[in-house]
Amino acid sequence: MDPVAARLTVSDACLELAGSLGDFSPKDALAVSGRLRREGHAPELVAAAMSLAELRREARPRLGDAVDTMVFHRAGLEQASRAVVSTLHAERFADAGCTAVADLTAGLGADARAVAARGLGVVAFEADEATAILAAHNLAPWPAARVVHGDSLVLLADADVDGVFADPARRNARGRRHDPSDYSPPLDAVLDLASRYRALGVKAGPSLPHEAVPAGFEAEWVSVDGDVVEVGLWAGAAARREGHAALVVRGGVRHEIAGPTDRAPAGALGEHLLEPDGAVIRAGLVGVLAESLGARLVDPSIAYLTADAPVVTPFARAYRVLERLPLDVKVLAKELRARDIGTVDIKKRGVDLTPEQLRPRLKLRGTGRATLVLTRLEGRHAALLVEPVPG
Ligand SMILES: C[S@@+](CC[C@H](N)C(=O)[O-])C[C@H]1O[C@@H](n2cnc3c(N)ncnc32)[C@H](O)[C@@H]1O
Repeated sequence: MDPVAARLTVSDACLELAGSLGDFSPKDALAVSGRLRREGHAPELVAAAMSLAELRREARPRLGDAVDTMVFHRAGLEQASRAVVSTLHAERFADAGCTAVADLTAGLGADARAVAARGLGVVAFEADEATAILAAHNLAPWPAARVVHGDSLVLLADADVDGVFADPARRNARGRRHDPSDYSPPLDAVLDLASRYRALGVKAGPSLPHEAVPAGFEAEWVSVDGDVVEVGLWAGAAARREGHAALVVRGGVRHEIAGPTDRAPAGALGEHLLEPDGAVIRAGLVGVLAESLGARLVDPSIAYLTADAPVVTPFARAYRVLERLPLDVKVLAKELRARDIGTVDIKKRGVDLTPEQLRPRLKLRGTGRATLVLTRLEGRHAALLVEPVPG
């Protein structure tokens, strides 16, 4: 989006028109635009208002009803933190006793809004002019929050803040960037600020290598309803511990686990199989989880756990093992057909064969449903017929 389009988006005329459209269905787009044009609205205004209404509809599941007063462009929405995660970020700065926070990477201001809503002052820097115009609108309800257009690394020194947050851009025209030195601003430059402020927080991609976590920092991998969404790097008063943690948010309820990243012992398959949450795996905390549950790895190199007694934990999905089978397509097809299985959910770890390759080869026609886990047990390929344990 260019600055002219951004100014049109935040104009009273566009906000009013977009508000009047509500969450119109994309299949009605042609009819809606025709009606608005017939009512005498300028084509650019109609396009801007319809685009805003559409982006608000797309944003609602992640950002809630706050979207009705917010403005968006597509790239900014794709990069915006979801509300549950922004709330976590803001909580860190409030708990750290900060009074004002600089957001080095405002984007459309989702994270900055959450900090402002906690009653803290906010200076939100944004390098892209159009994005800064939209962010200023999104932060307007909080008089103690302001947006500054420019390079935050250059301008930060003039900001009177005691906390610093950054969610560096991890995308460019060629797609996602995985190298932290490629982030904008670069991760190292942001981490170097830790010693100068009361609290520092950085949102990074969950695939961040463990070596990139500086000594003395807390690294917390976060998953929301099964999706690993970030690793937060926290320093100073914003860190609750040194080392790794995993925060699993399910149905809005938070569960946290932390500890050393030691490997769990491996052992024989028991009656129950546990699939740790992705945040626990990324954080390297499968060993801590295993110990807390009295479970063991099914294989030293595979992140499935096994236990003899039933286990209920927010940190893993639990399955009861019904049958251990060889990973042989003919045997699996015969066993599943004998059980009248027509639909099979396939999970795999440590095996090259993909569900997409295996499913058509099984040629299932039954009426039942089953879950199959392809993995390695004690160094050998195996398939487990399992059933999910509720809860
Ligand atoms: C991932 S987005 C931030 C999203 C934001 N946390 C949110 O939840 O809406 C990163 C933003 O940082 C901006 N940015 C990148 N480098 C910057 C810099 N050096 N100074 C200011 N803004 C920068 C980009 O233009 C982009 O809008």
